[in-house]
Amino acid sequence: MITPLVEARDVVKRYGPTVALADGRLTVLPGESHALVGRNGAGKSTLVNVLTGLQAPDEGTVRFDGEPAPPLADRDAWRRKVACVYQKPTVVPELTVAENLFINRQPLQRGFISWRRLHKEAAALLDTWDVHVDPEARTADLKVEDRQMVEIARALSFGARFIVLDEPTAQLDNREIERLFSRIRALQGSGVTFLFISHHLQEVYEVCQTVTVLRDARWITTAPVADLPRPALVEAMAGEAVTGSAQQARDAVPGDAPVVLDVQGLSSESYDHIDLTVRGGEVVGLAGTSGSGKIELAETVAGLRTPTGGTARVQEKPLPFGDVRAVLKAGVGFVPRDRHDQGLVSGMSIGDNATMTVLDRLGRRGFVGTDRKRRFATGLIERLDIHAEGPEQPVSDLSGGNAQKVVMARALASDPRLLVLVNPTAGVDVKSKESLLARVDSAREDGTAVLVVSDELDDLRRCDRVLVLFHGRIVAEHPAGWHDHELIASIEGVDSMPEGVDHG
Ligand SMILES: Nc1ncnc2c1ncn2[C@@H]1O[C@H](COP(=O)(O)OP(=O)(O)OP(=O)(O)O)[C@@H](O)[C@H]1O
Ligand SMILES: [Mg+2]
Repeated sequence: MITPLVEARDVVKRYGPTVALADGRLTVLPGESHALVGRNGAGKSTLVNVLTGLQAPDEGTVRFDGEPAPPLADRDAWRRKVACVYQKPTVVPELTVAENLFINRQPLQRGFISWRRLHKEAAALLDTWDVHVDPEARTADLKVEDRQMVEIARALSFGARFIVLDEPTAQLDNREIERLFSRIRALQGSGVTFLFISHHLQEVYEVCQTVTVLRDARWITTAPVADLPRPALVEAMAGEAVTGSAQQARDAVPGDAPVVLDVQGLSSESYDHIDLTVRGGEVVGLAGTSGSGKIELAETVAGLRTPTGGTARVQEKPLPFGDVRAVLKAGVGFVPRDRHDQGLVSGMSIGDNATMTVLDRLGRRGFVGTDRKRRFATGLIERLDIHAEGPEQPVSDLSGGNAQKVVMARALASDPRLLVLVNPTAGVDVKSKESLLARVDSAREDGTAVLVVSDELDDLRRCDRVLVLFHGRIVAEHPAGWHDHELIASIEGVDSMPEGVDHG
């Protein structure tokens, strides 16, 4: 019998009336990469909070190497056992990599920080774990994957050999994900054990050997990934057999549909002379790597940025660049890239967040009946499959994916003429993704123009056409029906395979 590196048993965790975990269990063996999957709100992050000593469970036990977990207050002891890398950085962006690695434990020379030794030790540490990052670089300037590697190296330097990755790939493009994965594999080879949380089931199959499924706050199963093919895995997550949703045939957008968004010669530091139109009832995708300018372009159309040249018109009126409120008034709904920073007001309830863009429509002269608002918000919560107690619950209580759905609810609430969506399904589970994308489909049916920026092929597949940006310029246009490799080739800036070659 191998002693598990980590073992959680009978874990119960309540938040007021919410039972976030009713039967949390996890057994991770040394040296494996273990996936933890489940729908939004299933209890994954809650279990991680318990495993990393951020929160005490109401019931149940956690053991490391057969020994009971340290008391909650002994942070140093926890740091020697486990660390979690989140989407949001836990390093200080203004500090250098070396300073972040040795924060609060800098090498001292006669009472002063020895910068020379600090940099030397940091370089040695990064070298040990094969992390190719300059110790003197400002952490804010690092690429996301490098920042994540610095956090992992820091955790390893405390002695931890168990690293939790909670949705680490949600902000990475395909190439960055590949690089992160090859580093994870290398670290696994050096004896590091990983717990990996992701809604991208493909990633689970790529990097993990074992998978644990949570559903409705309960442990459902733990199995080798090889024994749980994708349909069985989705069934374990959803609690019901999931039939492959057939790709719906859709009617082409009529050529005489009105142009809702008309962009001409738009330029900024991030993109160059962009011409693009989106008609009512048309869904246009924008694809590209993280440096392609696709997000900056979408944020310009949403009123977050001012271009250096060119024009954009929404329903024939000039778009008021740089003024989010005016752009919203002009009929543009927006799902921003980062729900933490740009998305939600964390002190407010779900209902207030979802309806804040439409208060003038819900009531006269600024007065909104609470009943009316409540009914409206409840409707949105149902339609978007948001797992919550009700509209009064603060958004800060929501799980990551459910928070993303509130952002989407708000964008849809104003019945926009143009919807601008940036990574709309990031962090959203497989089933909720379907209902979210179905909402986009019905907006399209109603004649809304939609501009979708996404790294997800599933999001882009629903588009009438996909434009690919490369170094700030539109380099390709793919009408619906493209093959994955064709789109990926133009995103990566390599020519697609020549005509007539059979590429399976
Ligand atoms: N601080 C909190 N206060 C109240 N309820 C909370 C709090 N944190 C989490 N919850 C609730 O506990 C449940 C489990 O949330 P958790 O964050 O563990 O889900 P998750 O599996 O990580 O989901 P996701 O995939 O969306 O991130 C959810 O219903 C959530 O709303
Ligand atoms: Mg979570």
